[in-house]
Amino acid sequence: MIHAKILIIEDNEDLAFTLSNVLKKEGYQVVSVGDGESGLDRLQKELFDLVLLDLKLPKMNGLEVLSQIKKLDEDILVVMMTASTDAKPAIEALKKGAYDYMMKPFELDEMKKITRNALENYELKREVMRFRRQNQRIHPASNLLGESPLMEKVRELIQIIAETPRTSVLIQGDSGTGKELVANALHYASARKDSPFVKINCSAIPENLLESELFGHEKGAFTDARSQKKGLFELADGGTIFLDEIPSMKLTLQPKLLRAIETQTFRRVGGLSDIEINVRVIAATNSDLGELVKNKEFRNDLYYRLKVMEVSLPPLCHRGEDILLLAKVFLQEFNKEFNRNVTKLSQETETLILSYLWPGNVRELKNVIERGVILCKSDTLLPEHLPHELLNVDEAHPEKHAFLGRVTLQEMEKNHIQEVLRTMNGNKSQAAKILNISRSTLREKLKSYEIV
Ligand SMILES: Nc1ncnc2c1ncn2[C@@H]1O[C@H](COP(=O)(O)OP(=O)(O)OP(=O)(O)O)[C@@H](O)[C@H]1O
Ligand SMILES: [Mg+2]
Repeated sequence: MIHAKILIIEDNEDLAFTLSNVLKKEGYQVVSVGDGESGLDRLQKELFDLVLLDLKLPKMNGLEVLSQIKKLDEDILVVMMTASTDAKPAIEALKKGAYDYMMKPFELDEMKKITRNALENYELKREVMRFRRQNQRIHPASNLLGESPLMEKVRELIQIIAETPRTSVLIQGDSGTGKELVANALHYASARKDSPFVKINCSAIPENLLESELFGHEKGAFTDARSQKKGLFELADGGTIFLDEIPSMKLTLQPKLLRAIETQTFRRVGGLSDIEINVRVIAATNSDLGELVKNKEFRNDLYYRLKVMEVSLPPLCHRGEDILLLAKVFLQEFNKEFNRNVTKLSQETETLILSYLWPGNVRELKNVIERGVILCKSDTLLPEHLPHELLNVDEAHPEKHAFLGRVTLQEMEKNHIQEVLRTMNGNKSQAAKILNISRSTLREKLKSYEIV
Protein backbone atom coordinates (compact mmCIF):
# COMPACT_ATOMS: atom_id res chain seq x y z
CA MET A 1 0.00 0.00 0.00
CA ILE A 2 2.55 2.42 -1.25
CA HIS A 3 0.39 5.56 -1.20
CA ALA A 4 -0.75 5.07 2.36
CA LYS A 5 -1.01 8.13 4.55
CA ILE A 6 0.45 7.93 8.02
CA LEU A 7 0.00 10.21 11.00
CA ILE A 8 2.72 10.29 13.67
CA ILE A 9 1.70 11.57 17.09
CA GLU A 10 4.93 11.85 19.08
CA ASP A 11 6.19 14.62 21.33
CA ASN A 12 9.85 13.65 21.07
CA GLU A 13 10.83 15.77 18.08
CA ASP A 14 13.99 13.86 17.24
CA LEU A 15 12.18 10.55 17.11
CA ALA A 16 9.27 12.02 15.16
CA PHE A 17 11.71 13.46 12.65
CA THR A 18 13.57 10.16 12.17
CA LEU A 19 10.36 8.13 11.85
CA SER A 20 8.90 10.58 9.41
CA ASN A 21 12.02 10.48 7.19
CA VAL A 22 12.27 6.72 7.17
CA LEU A 23 8.60 6.30 6.30
CA LYS A 24 8.73 8.94 3.57
CA LYS A 25 11.64 7.05 2.03
CA GLU A 26 9.41 3.96 2.00
CA GLY A 27 7.03 5.93 -0.20
CA TYR A 28 4.36 6.82 2.36
CA GLN A 29 2.80 10.22 2.86
CA VAL A 30 3.61 11.28 6.41
CA VAL A 31 2.26 13.97 8.72
CA SER A 32 3.74 14.47 12.16
CA VAL A 33 2.28 16.28 15.19
CA GLY A 34 3.46 16.68 18.78
CA ASP A 35 0.32 16.08 20.85
CA GLY A 36 -3.02 14.31 20.94
CA GLU A 37 -5.26 17.31 20.33
CA SER A 38 -3.43 18.31 17.16
CA GLY A 39 -3.52 14.69 16.04
CA LEU A 40 -7.28 14.41 16.51
CA ASP A 41 -7.70 17.71 14.75
CA ARG A 42 -5.84 16.41 11.67
CA LEU A 43 -7.77 13.14 11.75
CA GLN A 44 -11.02 15.03 11.62
CA LYS A 45 -9.97 16.91 8.51
CA GLU A 46 -8.03 14.30 6.56
CA LEU A 47 -8.14 10.59 5.86
CA PHE A 48 -5.26 8.57 7.24
CA ASP A 49 -4.63 4.84 6.93
CA LEU A 50 -2.38 4.41 9.93
CA VAL A 51 -1.50 6.27 13.12
CA LEU A 52 1.75 5.79 15.03
CA LEU A 53 0.82 6.92 18.50
CA ASP A 54 3.11 7.59 21.44
CA LEU A 55 1.79 6.38 24.76
CA LYS A 56 3.17 9.22 26.86
CA LEU A 57 2.06 12.55 25.52
CA PRO A 58 1.69 15.97 27.09
CA LYS A 59 -1.86 16.79 28.27
CA MET A 60 -4.02 13.98 26.89
CA ASN A 61 -2.24 10.62 27.22
CA GLY A 62 -1.91 8.07 24.41
CA LEU A 63 -4.63 5.72 25.65
CA GLU A 64 -7.13 8.55 25.84
CA VAL A 65 -6.13 9.70 22.34
CA LEU A 66 -6.56 6.11 21.14
CA SER A 67 -10.13 5.99 22.44
CA GLN A 68 -10.95 9.27 20.73
CA ILE A 69 -9.42 8.08 17.45
CA LYS A 70 -11.46 4.89 17.52
CA LYS A 71 -14.58 6.95 18.12
CA LEU A 72 -13.79 8.94 14.99
CA ASP A 73 -12.96 5.95 12.82
CA GLU A 74 -13.27 2.43 14.09
CA ASP A 75 -11.31 0.91 11.22
CA ILE A 76 -8.23 3.08 11.31
CA LEU A 77 -5.04 1.27 12.25
CA VAL A 78 -3.20 2.46 15.32
CA VAL A 79 0.24 1.24 16.34
CA MET A 80 1.28 2.33 19.83
CA MET A 81 4.81 3.29 20.77
CA THR A 82 5.73 2.86 24.39
CA ALA A 83 8.91 3.41 26.35
CA SER A 84 7.64 1.69 29.43
CA THR A 85 8.81 -1.82 30.21
CA ASP A 86 5.48 -2.39 31.89
CA ALA A 87 3.30 -4.40 29.50
CA LYS A 88 0.04 -3.26 31.08
CA PRO A 89 -0.54 -0.08 29.06
CA ALA A 90 0.34 -1.93 25.85
CA ILE A 91 -2.21 -4.62 26.62
CA GLU A 92 -4.74 -1.95 27.54
CA ALA A 93 -4.10 -0.34 24.15
CA LEU A 94 -4.69 -3.62 22.30
CA LYS A 95 -7.95 -4.02 24.19
CA LYS A 96 -8.97 -0.54 23.12
CA GLY A 97 -8.48 -1.51 19.50
CA ALA A 98 -4.81 -0.76 18.74
CA TYR A 99 -3.47 -3.00 15.98
CA ASP A 100 -0.05 -3.53 17.52
CA TYR A 101 2.58 -1.87 19.71
CA MET A 102 6.32 -1.25 19.61
CA MET A 103 8.56 -1.02 22.67
CA LYS A 104 11.02 1.87 22.60
CA PRO A 105 13.80 1.82 21.69
CA PHE A 106 12.92 -0.10 18.56
CA GLU A 107 14.90 -0.90 15.45
CA LEU A 108 13.83 1.08 12.41
CA ASP A 109 13.63 -2.12 10.38
CA GLU A 110 11.24 -3.55 12.91
CA MET A 111 9.14 -0.40 12.70
CA LYS A 112 9.07 -0.60 8.89
CA LYS A 113 7.98 -4.20 9.06
CA ILE A 114 5.17 -3.59 11.52
CA THR A 115 3.95 -0.63 9.46
CA ARG A 116 4.01 -2.65 6.26
CA ASN A 117 2.21 -5.59 7.84
CA ALA A 118 -0.42 -3.39 9.37
CA LEU A 119 -1.13 -1.64 6.09
CA GLU A 120 -1.28 -4.86 4.11
CA ASN A 121 -3.65 -6.35 6.60
CA TYR A 122 -5.75 -3.22 6.39
CA GLU A 123 -5.88 -3.37 2.62
CA LEU A 124 -7.03 -6.97 2.60
CA LYS A 125 -9.62 -6.18 5.22
CA ARG A 126 -10.94 -3.25 3.25
CA GLU A 127 -11.17 -5.31 0.09
CA VAL A 128 -13.07 -8.07 1.85
CA MET A 129 -15.38 -5.53 3.50
CA ARG A 130 -16.12 -4.10 0.08
CA PHE A 131 -17.14 -7.52 -1.22
CA ARG A 132 -19.27 -8.15 1.81
CA ARG A 133 -20.99 -4.80 1.60
CA GLN A 134 -21.81 -5.30 -2.07
CA ASN A 135 -23.06 -8.73 -1.33
CA GLN A 136 -25.20 -7.56 1.56
CA ARG A 137 -26.77 -4.92 -0.57
CA ILE A 138 -27.86 -7.52 -3.06
CA HIS A 139 -28.87 -10.20 -0.66
CA PRO A 140 -28.95 -9.51 3.04
CA ALA A 141 -29.61 -13.07 4.10
CA SER A 142 -26.82 -14.84 2.31
CA ASN A 143 -23.10 -15.08 2.57
CA LEU A 144 -22.97 -16.49 -0.89
CA LEU A 145 -20.08 -14.58 -2.35
CA GLY A 146 -19.27 -13.89 -5.97
CA GLU A 147 -19.42 -11.04 -8.42
CA SER A 148 -19.47 -13.04 -11.64
CA PRO A 149 -22.53 -12.65 -13.85
CA LEU A 150 -23.38 -16.31 -13.19
CA MET A 151 -23.47 -15.73 -9.44
CA GLU A 152 -25.47 -12.54 -9.91
CA LYS A 153 -28.09 -14.62 -11.71
CA VAL A 154 -28.13 -17.19 -8.93
CA ARG A 155 -28.62 -14.45 -6.39
CA GLU A 156 -31.47 -12.88 -8.33
CA LEU A 157 -33.12 -16.26 -8.62
CA ILE A 158 -32.78 -16.87 -4.89
CA GLN A 159 -34.48 -13.55 -4.24
CA ILE A 160 -37.39 -14.46 -6.50
CA ILE A 161 -37.80 -17.96 -5.08
CA ALA A 162 -37.55 -16.68 -1.52
CA GLU A 163 -40.62 -14.57 -2.20
CA THR A 164 -42.70 -17.59 -3.19
CA PRO A 165 -42.32 -19.60 0.00
CA ARG A 166 -44.54 -22.56 -0.88
CA THR A 167 -42.96 -23.83 -4.09
CA SER A 168 -40.44 -26.62 -3.88
CA VAL A 169 -36.95 -26.09 -5.16
CA LEU A 170 -34.34 -28.27 -6.79
CA ILE A 171 -30.71 -27.22 -6.43
CA GLN A 172 -28.33 -28.86 -8.85
CA GLY A 173 -24.58 -28.41 -8.97
CA ASP A 174 -21.31 -30.29 -8.71
CA SER A 175 -19.84 -31.12 -5.36
CA GLY A 176 -18.65 -28.08 -3.43
CA THR A 177 -20.42 -25.46 -5.55
CA GLY A 178 -22.46 -24.14 -2.63
CA LYS A 179 -25.78 -26.03 -2.74
CA GLU A 180 -26.16 -26.09 1.00
CA LEU A 181 -25.33 -22.40 1.20
CA VAL A 182 -28.07 -21.69 -1.35
CA ALA A 183 -30.58 -23.75 0.63
CA ASN A 184 -29.68 -21.73 3.71
CA ALA A 185 -30.01 -18.46 1.84
CA LEU A 186 -33.41 -19.50 0.48
CA HIS A 187 -34.72 -20.26 3.92
CA TYR A 188 -33.35 -17.19 5.63
CA ALA A 189 -34.43 -14.84 2.87
CA SER A 190 -37.99 -16.17 2.93
CA ALA A 191 -40.96 -15.45 5.14
CA ARG A 192 -40.21 -18.79 6.84
CA LYS A 193 -36.97 -17.54 8.32
CA ASP A 194 -38.16 -17.54 11.93
CA SER A 195 -39.43 -21.12 11.69
CA PRO A 196 -37.21 -24.22 11.68
CA PHE A 197 -34.74 -25.04 8.93
CA VAL A 198 -34.25 -28.80 9.03
CA LYS A 199 -31.59 -30.59 6.99
CA ILE A 200 -31.18 -34.22 6.19
CA ASN A 201 -28.70 -35.97 3.94
CA CYS A 202 -30.65 -38.79 2.32
CA SER A 203 -27.50 -40.76 1.55
CA ALA A 204 -26.37 -40.72 5.18
CA ILE A 205 -29.43 -42.59 6.53
CA PRO A 206 -29.94 -46.30 5.86
CA GLU A 207 -32.60 -46.68 3.19
CA ASN A 208 -35.12 -48.45 5.42
CA LEU A 209 -34.88 -45.82 8.16
CA LEU A 210 -35.30 -42.78 5.96
CA GLU A 211 -39.09 -42.96 5.96
CA SER A 212 -39.40 -42.90 9.74
CA GLU A 213 -36.72 -40.23 9.92
CA LEU A 214 -38.78 -38.01 7.59
CA PHE A 215 -42.30 -38.84 8.68
CA GLY A 216 -41.89 -40.33 12.16
CA HIS A 217 -43.52 -43.52 13.40
CA GLU A 218 -46.15 -44.79 15.82
CA LYS A 219 -45.32 -47.01 18.74
CA GLY A 220 -44.95 -50.60 17.56
CA ALA A 221 -44.85 -49.70 13.86
CA PHE A 222 -41.81 -51.94 13.53
CA THR A 223 -39.61 -53.98 15.86
CA ASP A 224 -37.46 -51.11 17.11
CA ALA A 225 -40.31 -48.63 17.36
CA ARG A 226 -40.70 -48.74 21.14
CA SER A 227 -42.31 -45.36 21.32
CA GLN A 228 -43.95 -42.85 19.07
CA LYS A 229 -41.51 -40.55 17.24
CA LYS A 230 -41.97 -37.29 15.37
CA GLY A 231 -40.37 -37.05 11.96
CA LEU A 232 -38.46 -34.17 10.43
CA PHE A 233 -41.49 -32.96 8.46
CA GLU A 234 -43.33 -32.39 11.71
CA LEU A 235 -40.31 -30.72 13.27
CA ALA A 236 -39.95 -28.44 10.25
CA ASP A 237 -43.58 -27.33 10.39
CA GLY A 238 -43.87 -23.71 9.29
CA GLY A 239 -40.33 -23.77 7.96
CA THR A 240 -38.16 -25.46 5.38
CA ILE A 241 -36.86 -28.99 4.99
CA PHE A 242 -33.66 -29.49 3.02
CA LEU A 243 -33.29 -32.94 1.48
CA ASP A 244 -29.68 -33.23 0.43
CA GLU A 245 -28.62 -35.91 -2.09
CA ILE A 246 -32.19 -36.64 -3.03
CA PRO A 247 -31.34 -39.41 -5.57
CA SER A 248 -30.48 -41.66 -2.61
CA MET A 249 -34.16 -41.81 -1.72
CA LYS A 250 -35.46 -45.18 -2.83
CA LEU A 251 -38.20 -45.38 -5.45
CA THR A 252 -40.81 -46.73 -3.05
CA LEU A 253 -40.47 -43.77 -0.70
CA GLN A 254 -40.65 -41.18 -3.46
CA PRO A 255 -44.47 -41.19 -3.86
CA LYS A 256 -44.83 -40.50 -0.14
CA LEU A 257 -42.62 -37.46 -0.46
CA LEU A 258 -44.56 -36.31 -3.51
CA ARG A 259 -47.81 -36.61 -1.59
CA ALA A 260 -46.41 -34.66 1.34
CA ILE A 261 -45.36 -31.86 -0.99
CA GLU A 262 -48.62 -31.76 -2.92
CA THR A 263 -51.16 -32.18 -0.15
CA GLN A 264 -49.08 -30.91 2.76
CA THR A 265 -50.20 -33.95 4.69
CA PHE A 266 -48.50 -37.23 5.54
CA ARG A 267 -48.81 -40.26 7.79
CA ARG A 268 -46.34 -41.51 10.33
CA VAL A 269 -45.03 -45.02 9.70
CA GLY A 270 -47.72 -47.26 11.19
CA GLY A 271 -50.03 -44.29 11.57
CA LEU A 272 -53.67 -44.24 10.48
CA SER A 273 -54.45 -40.56 10.33
CA ASP A 274 -53.09 -37.73 8.21
CA ILE A 275 -51.05 -35.03 9.83
CA GLU A 276 -51.17 -31.57 8.33
CA ILE A 277 -48.06 -29.51 7.89
CA ASN A 278 -46.85 -26.41 6.12
CA VAL A 279 -43.34 -27.03 4.87
CA ARG A 280 -41.29 -25.94 1.90
CA VAL A 281 -39.13 -28.70 0.43
CA ILE A 282 -35.73 -27.91 -1.00
CA ALA A 283 -33.88 -30.83 -2.56
CA ALA A 284 -30.30 -30.95 -3.79
CA THR A 285 -28.27 -33.23 -5.98
CA ASN A 286 -24.91 -33.31 -7.66
CA SER A 287 -25.97 -35.84 -10.24
CA ASP A 288 -28.07 -35.11 -13.28
CA LEU A 289 -31.55 -35.90 -12.03
CA GLY A 290 -33.03 -35.75 -15.51
CA GLU A 291 -30.67 -38.52 -16.56
CA LEU A 292 -31.72 -40.65 -13.56
CA VAL A 293 -35.35 -40.19 -14.56
CA LYS A 294 -34.56 -41.43 -18.07
CA ASN A 295 -32.95 -44.51 -16.55
CA LYS A 296 -35.97 -45.04 -14.29
CA GLU A 297 -33.87 -44.55 -11.20
CA PHE A 298 -35.91 -41.56 -10.10
CA ARG A 299 -39.64 -40.98 -10.48
CA ASN A 300 -40.53 -38.42 -13.07
CA ASP A 301 -43.61 -37.07 -11.25
CA LEU A 302 -41.48 -36.19 -8.23
CA TYR A 303 -38.76 -34.81 -10.48
CA TYR A 304 -41.18 -32.40 -12.17
CA ARG A 305 -42.69 -31.40 -8.86
CA LEU A 306 -39.28 -30.61 -7.38
CA LYS A 307 -37.96 -28.75 -10.33
CA VAL A 308 -40.77 -26.20 -10.46
CA MET A 309 -38.05 -23.88 -9.28
CA GLU A 310 -34.58 -24.86 -10.19
CA VAL A 311 -31.26 -23.37 -9.20
CA SER A 312 -28.24 -24.61 -11.11
CA LEU A 313 -24.91 -23.76 -9.59
CA PRO A 314 -22.07 -23.21 -12.03
CA PRO A 315 -18.74 -24.92 -11.40
CA LEU A 316 -16.15 -22.57 -9.95
CA CYS A 317 -14.05 -22.69 -13.11
CA HIS A 318 -16.85 -20.98 -15.03
CA ARG A 319 -16.77 -18.11 -12.61
CA GLY A 320 -13.34 -16.67 -13.45
CA GLU A 321 -13.50 -13.42 -11.54
CA ASP A 322 -14.90 -15.07 -8.42
CA ILE A 323 -11.87 -17.26 -7.86
CA LEU A 324 -9.51 -14.59 -6.53
CA LEU A 325 -12.29 -12.85 -4.66
CA LEU A 326 -13.17 -16.04 -2.80
CA ALA A 327 -9.50 -16.83 -2.22
CA LYS A 328 -9.05 -13.46 -0.53
CA VAL A 329 -12.13 -13.82 1.61
CA PHE A 330 -11.00 -17.27 2.76
CA LEU A 331 -7.50 -15.90 3.37
CA GLN A 332 -8.93 -13.39 5.76
CA GLU A 333 -11.16 -15.92 7.47
CA PHE A 334 -8.29 -18.34 8.08
CA ASN A 335 -5.95 -15.57 9.20
CA LYS A 336 -8.44 -14.83 11.90
CA GLU A 337 -8.98 -18.47 12.78
CA PHE A 338 -5.28 -19.34 13.01
CA ASN A 339 -4.12 -15.95 14.19
CA ARG A 340 -1.92 -15.40 11.14
CA ASN A 341 -1.18 -12.48 8.92
CA VAL A 342 -1.00 -13.85 5.38
CA THR A 343 -2.23 -10.83 3.50
CA LYS A 344 -1.21 -11.45 -0.09
CA LEU A 345 -1.10 -13.98 -2.88
CA SER A 346 2.08 -13.68 -4.92
CA GLN A 347 1.61 -12.99 -8.62
CA GLU A 348 2.63 -16.55 -9.41
CA THR A 349 0.21 -17.97 -6.84
CA GLU A 350 -2.60 -15.94 -8.40
CA THR A 351 -1.75 -17.31 -11.82
CA LEU A 352 -1.72 -20.89 -10.55
CA ILE A 353 -5.01 -20.43 -8.74
CA LEU A 354 -6.57 -18.99 -11.87
CA SER A 355 -5.15 -21.74 -14.08
CA TYR A 356 -6.45 -24.65 -12.08
CA LEU A 357 -9.76 -26.28 -12.95
CA TRP A 358 -11.02 -26.75 -9.36
CA PRO A 359 -12.83 -30.08 -9.68
CA GLY A 360 -13.83 -29.80 -6.01
CA ASN A 361 -15.09 -26.26 -6.62
CA VAL A 362 -15.41 -23.73 -3.79
CA ARG A 363 -14.89 -26.36 -1.09
CA GLU A 364 -11.56 -27.32 -2.64
CA LEU A 365 -10.49 -23.70 -2.93
CA LYS A 366 -11.36 -23.13 0.70
CA ASN A 367 -9.33 -26.16 1.76
CA VAL A 368 -6.35 -25.10 -0.35
CA ILE A 369 -6.34 -21.65 1.24
CA GLU A 370 -6.69 -23.11 4.73
CA ARG A 371 -3.72 -25.39 4.13
CA GLY A 372 -1.76 -22.48 2.63
CA VAL A 373 -2.36 -20.22 5.61
CA ILE A 374 -1.21 -22.97 7.96
CA LEU A 375 1.98 -23.61 5.99
CA CYS A 376 2.86 -20.02 5.20
CA LYS A 377 5.22 -18.34 7.65
CA SER A 378 5.40 -14.96 5.93
CA ASP A 379 2.81 -12.48 4.73
CA THR A 380 2.66 -13.79 1.16
CA LEU A 381 1.17 -17.04 -0.03
CA LEU A 382 3.68 -18.59 -2.44
CA PRO A 383 3.39 -21.52 -4.87
CA GLU A 384 5.29 -23.68 -2.37
CA HIS A 385 2.29 -23.40 -0.04
CA LEU A 386 -0.05 -24.87 -2.64
CA PRO A 387 -0.75 -28.59 -3.03
CA HIS A 388 1.03 -30.27 -5.92
CA GLU A 389 -2.04 -30.68 -8.11
CA LEU A 390 -2.13 -26.92 -8.59
CA LEU A 391 1.48 -26.82 -9.68
CA ASN A 392 1.21 -29.38 -12.46
CA VAL A 393 -0.56 -27.71 -15.29
CA ASP A 394 -0.98 -30.56 -17.67
CA GLU A 395 1.06 -29.70 -20.76
CA ALA A 396 -0.44 -32.61 -22.65
CA HIS A 397 -3.91 -31.16 -22.16
CA PRO A 398 -3.53 -27.48 -22.71
CA GLU A 399 -7.30 -27.09 -22.81
CA LYS A 400 -7.20 -27.66 -19.07
CA HIS A 401 -5.34 -24.40 -18.75
CA ALA A 402 -7.53 -21.54 -17.69
CA PHE A 403 -6.17 -18.92 -19.99
CA LEU A 404 -7.24 -20.97 -22.97
CA GLY A 405 -10.94 -20.67 -22.66
CA ARG A 406 -12.05 -19.62 -19.21
CA VAL A 407 -10.97 -16.06 -18.76
CA THR A 408 -13.04 -13.60 -20.75
CA LEU A 409 -11.42 -10.89 -22.81
CA GLN A 410 -12.75 -8.31 -20.36
CA GLU A 411 -11.26 -10.06 -17.36
CA MET A 412 -7.97 -10.30 -19.20
CA GLU A 413 -8.03 -6.61 -19.96
CA LYS A 414 -8.90 -5.77 -16.38
CA ASN A 415 -6.10 -7.96 -15.02
CA HIS A 416 -3.60 -6.53 -17.46
CA ILE A 417 -4.47 -2.95 -16.58
CA GLN A 418 -4.16 -3.76 -12.89
CA GLU A 419 -0.81 -5.40 -13.40
CA VAL A 420 0.60 -2.49 -15.39
CA LEU A 421 -0.65 -0.04 -12.78
CA ARG A 422 0.92 -2.08 -10.04
CA THR A 423 4.25 -2.20 -11.87
CA MET A 424 4.11 1.55 -12.38
CA ASN A 425 3.36 2.10 -8.69
CA GLY A 426 -0.04 3.48 -9.54
CA ASN A 427 1.27 6.15 -11.91
CA LYS A 428 -1.59 6.51 -14.39
CA SER A 429 0.23 8.61 -17.01
CA GLN A 430 2.95 6.02 -17.33
CA ALA A 431 0.46 3.16 -17.33
CA ALA A 432 -1.51 4.83 -20.15
CA LYS A 433 1.69 5.21 -22.16
CA ILE A 434 2.60 1.56 -21.77
CA LEU A 435 -0.93 0.47 -22.66
CA ASN A 436 -0.81 2.86 -25.63
CA ILE A 437 -4.11 4.52 -24.79
CA SER A 438 -4.95 8.06 -23.76
CA ARG A 439 -5.26 9.02 -20.12
CA SER A 440 -8.97 9.62 -20.57
CA THR A 441 -9.49 6.16 -22.07
CA LEU A 442 -7.61 4.69 -19.14
CA ARG A 443 -9.73 6.69 -16.74
CA GLU A 444 -12.91 5.35 -18.35
CA LYS A 445 -11.66 1.78 -18.19
CA LEU A 446 -10.65 2.14 -14.55
CA LYS A 447 -14.09 3.46 -13.81
CA SER A 448 -15.93 0.70 -15.64
CA TYR A 449 -13.82 -2.00 -13.99
CA GLU A 450 -14.10 -0.27 -10.63
CA ILE A 451 -10.35 -0.23 -10.21
CA VAL A 452 -9.29 2.35 -7.64
N1 LIG B 1 -20.43 -18.62 -3.24
C1 LIG B 1 -19.82 -18.97 -2.10
N2 LIG B 1 -19.36 -18.04 -1.25
C2 LIG B 1 -18.73 -18.38 -0.12
N3 LIG B 1 -18.51 -19.64 0.28
C3 LIG B 1 -18.95 -20.61 -0.52
C4 LIG B 1 -19.63 -20.34 -1.74
N4 LIG B 1 -19.97 -21.51 -2.31
C5 LIG B 1 -19.52 -22.47 -1.49
N5 LIG B 1 -18.91 -21.96 -0.41
C6 LIG B 1 -18.27 -22.73 0.67
O1 LIG B 1 -17.77 -23.92 0.10
C7 LIG B 1 -18.03 -25.03 0.91
C8 LIG B 1 -18.91 -26.03 0.19
O2 LIG B 1 -20.21 -25.50 0.02
P1 LIG B 1 -21.53 -26.40 0.17
O3 LIG B 1 -21.39 -27.32 1.32
O4 LIG B 1 -22.70 -25.49 0.15
O5 LIG B 1 -21.41 -27.21 -1.20
P2 LIG B 1 -22.35 -28.36 -1.77
O6 LIG B 1 -22.68 -27.96 -3.16
O7 LIG B 1 -23.45 -28.62 -0.82
O8 LIG B 1 -21.33 -29.58 -1.84
P3 LIG B 1 -21.64 -31.19 -1.77
O9 LIG B 1 -22.33 -31.55 -3.03
O10 LIG B 1 -20.27 -31.79 -1.71
O11 LIG B 1 -22.46 -31.41 -0.55
C9 LIG B 1 -18.66 -24.50 2.17
O12 LIG B 1 -17.65 -24.29 3.12
C10 LIG B 1 -19.25 -23.18 1.73
O13 LIG B 1 -19.32 -22.28 2.81
MG1 LIG C 1 -23.81 -30.31 0.30
